[in-house]
Amino acid sequence: MPAGSIKDAFDESFATYRSEIEASFQDYLPHPRERPQRLHEAMRYSMEAGGKRLRPTLTLAVAELYFARAKAVPAALAVECIHTFSLIHDDLPCMDNDDLRRGKPTAHHQFDEPTALLAGDALLAFGFSLIAREYQSNPTLAVRLIQELSTACGGDGLVGGQMEDILAEKQPPTAEQLDYIHRHKTAALIEKAMTLGALIGDAGEKDLKIIREVGQEIGLAFQIIDDILDETADAETLGKTPGKDAASGKATFVALFGLEEARNKANKLSAQAINKLKSLPGNTNFLVNLVQRMQNRIS
Ligand code: IPE
Ligand code: IPE
Ligand code: MG
Ligand code: MG
Ligand code: MG
Repeated sequence: MPAGSIKDAFDESFATYRSEIEASFQDYLPHPRERPQRLHEAMRYSMEAGGKRLRPTLTLAVAELYFARAKAVPAALAVECIHTFSLIHDDLPCMDNDDLRRGKPTAHHQFDEPTALLAGDALLAFGFSLIAREYQSNPTLAVRLIQELSTACGGDGLVGGQMEDILAEKQPPTAEQLDYIHRHKTAALIEKAMTLGALIGDAGEKDLKIIREVGQEIGLAFQIIDDILDETADAETLGKTPGKDAASGKATFVALFGLEEARNKANKLSAQAINKLKSLPGNTNFLVNLVQRMQNRIS
């Protein structure tokens, strides 16, 4: 197959995953006319603003290795809801104080600060209630999914990483602290997005171990590239305001190691992840291409 066709096939598959995820909004998200309307409008606003849908795509693509793609849709949506909660709160004036997200005004600008805060809270809770409801016919699976995902969100995961990220603005971090921040605020949820797909597909322990390692590697690479793009991209392409990290003294890979070393580290992690992915069963081409696409992304 010529290289162009491989790229077209990948783009088509990625677009299909994205439309499956976005179609599920209609099936599951609270309707904006439901009371309190303003809350539900704000939840929809941030969910529908766009975004790459990387995490839910990972959930579905891993589940597909085990022929469980359709079954994984509610879990994939839950992951995207939780990710979107993290973005809304990350942008708040008391956190990163950002004006632009997914190419649109941030939720606290479009609505107001209390509404943005509450829409984030509601999306976080909704993600878990969706899993509890949609997988209740298999309570063992439902509990396992909730256990995995809640660990990734709380003080041992995303929220813990965000705490150290904020603290590091005052006190420049060591390499160990920066690794902790990136693995917790970003890699944890990416790892769990993949793990959920594997659990729904009833993957064995050996595969699960590989999938967790791959999730950590691509998760860390993802945040390193986010740091690089903050330094090098423009607002229109990025859909958020670049240059904010340096201006607010953020702990980033670029600040600590420079652009070149950050890029080398992201490339190394991506290559490691690809090697491991190839040892999984089924057709891993899409996942391998997805890692490459994320490695070379410009937004
Ligand atoms: C942004 O995530 C937050 C980080 C963890 C770097 P994404 O770059 O995946 O954001 P969307 O979902 O595409 O908007
Ligand atoms: C994102 O880190 C971490 C989250 C959990 C949202 P950033 O603060 O770098 O993400 P962006 O650049 O605002 O998307
Ligand atoms: Mg932040
Ligand atoms: Mg931010
Ligand atoms: Mg960033």
